[in-house]
Order: sequence, then structure tokens, then C-alpha cells
Amino acid sequence: PLIKELFGLTELETRLQRSLGLKKVVVVPGDSDRSDWVKKEMGRAVARILKITARPNQVVAVAGGTTLAAAAEMMSAFPGLRETTFVPARGGLGEVVELEANYIASLMAQKAGGHYRLLHVPDQLSEEARQTLVKEPHIQEMLELMRSARIVVHGIGDARAMAARRKSSPGLLRRLEEDGAIGEAFGYYFNRRGEIVHRGRSIGLNLEDLVNVDKVIAVAGGAAKAEAVAAILPVAGKDTLITDEAAARAVLTNL
Ligand code: BG6
Repeated sequence: PLIKELFGLTELETRLQRSLGLKKVVVVPGDSDRSDWVKKEMGRAVARILKITARPNQVVAVAGGTTLAAAAEMMSAFPGLRETTFVPARGGLGEVVELEANYIASLMAQKAGGHYRLLHVPDQLSEEARQTLVKEPHIQEMLELMRSARIVVHGIGDARAMAARRKSSPGLLRRLEEDGAIGEAFGYYFNRRGEIVHRGRSIGLNLEDLVNVDKVIAVAGGAAKAEAVAAILPVAGKDTLITDEAAARAVLTNL
């Protein structure tokens, strides 16, 4: 707390919380675009919140990405999380395995000393295959478990960076550009006004499902993500944002 006062981070937190309409904002010092330890600090904040708020037999759904991967790395054994089941928020979205929600859910569970269940679905599905797959009893059961999540933790991406990382087709890249996509959060692409301009076909939690979730924790830092954070948080966020100083300052000047 003392160090936060010195850097004026507490004031940043309050201002962001008000302007984005959130319940809680945590700002860690630094810029995660420039130094890797800042992502780890955000990860540490995620781990702390998960420990403080833990309830027996809860389900925690986690999205993918480098930020959530850092959060999983920073998790440590905690008795209160022993009966927690970690699940992916969505199926594969075309990321390398270390950045997939499945992998991150399993890592978090291992580090925390909890359980995990995984969703085994391929990422590039045709609409037909998708419809068939969601009817599979095993997938149905998993989807129900995911929808029962008490907490959802997700990252926010820069639209162009995410589309490229997911090796999206040139056609999709062009369409996102034309539609003014600037930010992405678990498979949905948003424009500057926070409107959804595209959604991926992967199976899992939808934005509508978040209504039933107790606590939605968004984790995103780095000045480059400021536009995305400013667009997405007012519409999709309702609870907690964990960010860094660089993103926080840039969001406030962007709003
Ligand atoms: C993806 C998540 O895997 O990672 C998204 O599904 C998120 O919710 C993205 O936008 C963020 O990635 P990173 O690496 O910037 O944390």
C-alpha cells in the first residue's frame, strides 16, 4: 500500500474504477509491454484475489493468453483452493498450447493444489461440426460445468495482434480491419464503441453466460492494450480489472 501511494497508483485505481464502472481495479507499477515482470505482478494480483475470495467446491473458468499464463505461473498452493475445479472458459482458439485455456486451467490447478477438467475440442470447426459436437454428452457435461463457474478470469487482447496470433485467414483479417475491430476478449472482437463485430466459433462460455457469474476478473496491461481495455471493460466488464500503470494512464487519457 505504501509503495502504491508513492506512485499515485491508488488514485489511478479509483479513477479507473469510476470511469469504467467497475467494483475493483488493481494497478501494478510498470508497463508489461516493456518488462516481463510486470505481467508476473499482475499474475500475482490474480492469484491473491483467487485466494482471498475462494469458496469450497467452486468452479473457476480461465481464458488463455500470455497474461493468464503468467497468472498461472504465479499461483501457489492454497488450502482454500483445494476443492476448486479449474476449467477453460472456451475451447481452443488456435493458440500455441502453452497459451491455451485448457493448459492454463491445468497449470493453475496444479499450482493451487486444486482440480481441473478440460474441454477437448478442435479450434477450426465448421458450423456443422460445431453443432454436432455440442450435442455430445461429454461436451454437454463440460459446458454445464463451465456455465456453473463462480469466477471467470480472462485476458483482453489487441484485435490485430490476436487475429494474427490465431493465424486467422487474410479474409478475416481484412474484415476485422474494415469493421474497426480494436479489442478482443475470449473470442469476441469489439470496435471502439464496445460493439461486437465478430465472434469466433469455438465452444465455451459466451458473453451472455457472464451474467450468471459472481466475479469476472479481466487482466490486461501494457499501453498498447489501452484502447481495447477502454472499449471492452465498460460493456463486458462488471467486476474486477487488474492492469498496469502504463495501460491505466493510457486508458484514462483515451476515455
Ligand atoms: C486469449 C484469450 O487467449 O488471450 C483472450 O482468449 C485474450 O481472452 C488474449 O484477449 C490475451 O492474450 P495476451 O497474450 O495478450 O494476454
